[in-house]
Amino acid sequence: MPREKDFGPGELGPPWTVLKMLRWTSNFFEERDVTETPRLDADLLLSHVLDVDRMDLYLKTDEEVPEAARDRFRAMVKRRAGGEPVAYLVGHREFWETDLKCDRRALVPRPDTEVLVETVVDTMDADGDHRLADIGTGTGAIALALADEFPNATIAATEISSDAIELAAENIEAHSASGRVTLLEGDLLDALPDDWGPLDAVVSNPPYVKEDDPDVQQAVLDHEPAQSLLAGPDGLDVIRRLIPQAYEALRGGGWLFFEFGYTQAESVYTLLDEEGFEAIEIHQDYSDRDRVASARKPQ
Ligand SMILES: C[S@@+](CC[C@H](N)C(=O)[O-])C[C@H]1O[C@@H](n2cnc3c(N)ncnc32)[C@H](O)[C@@H]1O
Repeated sequence: MPREKDFGPGELGPPWTVLKMLRWTSNFFEERDVTETPRLDADLLLSHVLDVDRMDLYLKTDEEVPEAARDRFRAMVKRRAGGEPVAYLVGHREFWETDLKCDRRALVPRPDTEVLVETVVDTMDADGDHRLADIGTGTGAIALALADEFPNATIAATEISSDAIELAAENIEAHSASGRVTLLEGDLLDALPDDWGPLDAVVSNPPYVKEDDPDVQQAVLDHEPAQSLLAGPDGLDVIRRLIPQAYEALRGGGWLFFEFGYTQAESVYTLLDEEGFEAIEIHQDYSDRDRVASARKPQ
């Protein structure tokens, strides 16, 4: 990790202004291929260390960063270069305009999962008094987004990991949503009590990474919980169980929405079709890759 003494006077030497720190760090991340968003990551880490909003960094570009803050920043840059997600380093991440506490207890919510929420929002009546379930809630990201979008809905959020349940509880509490979102620890939809009633929609971002998938970065596997990612040799172990359980729990006309890996669309379509779902659609993520399925249980 280079230090100031490694640079002579000139563009990347002292004084270490905000702008120089950002430039140096984003170059460093880019050269080492640490992240697909080098400048954003540098901005988020430096704004965290300086305790300012990201936008406020740009009002301070010529200010010198105090030495203690530089030391803290260097330590974080080093951890980021070792593969730790920015959200774990700064302790939070925004999802669907909600700031969520994030740490090693649960997967960091991904932007593509907002496509899943969008699909639910586009399909369901916003004012309905729906009974919804978010299966494998992690940080609580999807359940909280649904609570925002469907003000009259009741939401169950299930999760198998007790660590993730703790974190989701903290997020639900922080967003004063405890009255609307019920957390249930257990396996997929088996975690729902018998008297929960037929559901209007089941929503899930389940684990769907296949074992030994060469497309998944080692840094992700090293730092985020394996239980939130891996799902057997073809990545479909959890989805194969989710589909029939959802069919059983939905009312006639109810919807299943879930995220999957971009190579799994054909298998997912077949599994939904074989189960008896209708109106099956595959939706694309922000990179135009197949990512989300929606399907209706017949009346
Ligand atoms: C891909 S992560 C999604 C987390 C969160 N919903 C999100 O979108 O950011 C999958 C989550 O499902 C949980 N999970 C895995 N297997 C499960 C099971 N059999 N029953 C319930 N939850 C499960 C994992 O612990 C993890 O939190």
